[in-house]
Amino acid sequence: MADKTTTTAVRRRSGRSSGFVWGRKHLLGLEDLEPAELLHVLDTAAGFKSVSTRSIKKVPALRGKVVVNLFFEDSTRTRTSFTLSAQRLSADVIDFTGKSSSVNKGETLVDTARNIEAMGVDIMVLRHAAAGAPHLLARKVGCSVVNAGDGAHEHPTQGLLDLFTIREIKKKVEGLTVAIVGDIAHSRVARSNIFALRKLGARIILVGPRTLVPDQMRQLGAEISHDLDAVLPACDVVNMLRIQFERLQSAAFPSVEEYSRLFGLHAERLRLARPDLLVLHPGPINRGLELDSAVADGPHSGILRQVTNGLAVRMAVLYLVHQAALAVNGK
Ligand code: NCD
Repeated sequence: MADKTTTTAVRRRSGRSSGFVWGRKHLLGLEDLEPAELLHVLDTAAGFKSVSTRSIKKVPALRGKVVVNLFFEDSTRTRTSFTLSAQRLSADVIDFTGKSSSVNKGETLVDTARNIEAMGVDIMVLRHAAAGAPHLLARKVGCSVVNAGDGAHEHPTQGLLDLFTIREIKKKVEGLTVAIVGDIAHSRVARSNIFALRKLGARIILVGPRTLVPDQMRQLGAEISHDLDAVLPACDVVNMLRIQFERLQSAAFPSVEEYSRLFGLHAERLRLARPDLLVLHPGPINRGLELDSAVADGPHSGILRQVTNGLAVRMAVLYLVHQAALAVNGK
């Protein structure tokens, strides 16, 4: 794959026969990343985190560079987070949403992207309903491509920010038991989390109704349970996923009340959990369905920490892919 070639090229160029060098010009998913690469992004993000606490929240790493957000699906926090991250690196940022674009006039994704690239773009951040769309773009454009969510496939920066938050709060990842609860079948967040957490040695239990937790997910190295109460006492972390109503083809459970009773996290159910349980949610939350407000806003919640950490992680990703592009393209 192009990414592997890139890694090798940078290793050679750097003249280092051993030791880790980030060499990916694109970030398309976490499935291919090696543990050392995951750790390198987390360490780079930790370095960037302090920028957010300064009175002048900017570093010049991407000064004179252009980042374009190409979002063909709804998003609030991911798009804002990428915009702010790019701005904190001093890049110029263009927001481009599918709803107001020439794609509605029949232009293909690749044509749109190539036209935008011709305006001198360095990094494209793509969110698209089709799995594999960023991989296609990465083959067709010369600039860096970062996947901001492709269908139900991957959402690598969400996986990385979840990992960052877990490591920051728990001080480790290896040996932790992490339950991912809810709509696993339609969740790119679940897939990116599973890939990353497995590589760093966590135990993963996928929990939800049979209709939303397909048995094939075991092949990704996760355990499966349909009983949250049985799993909760063993968990260090629970990542509660949103029910993706927009992706459901038919009713996946009899009623939202029943879903909430069996798989929602509310104050009473939390009594089964360890006192230091960390509760995550990628947002947006269906309050009262996956999470009660008492839990979402309570002492176990790491949800706003995730949002804060998302900035540092996306700064790290934009910075690293650009460094790799410089090494490969020599510009
Ligand atoms: C996630 C997404 O879009 O995949 N949200 C996000 O990136 N903040 C999860 C979701 O929509 O449920």
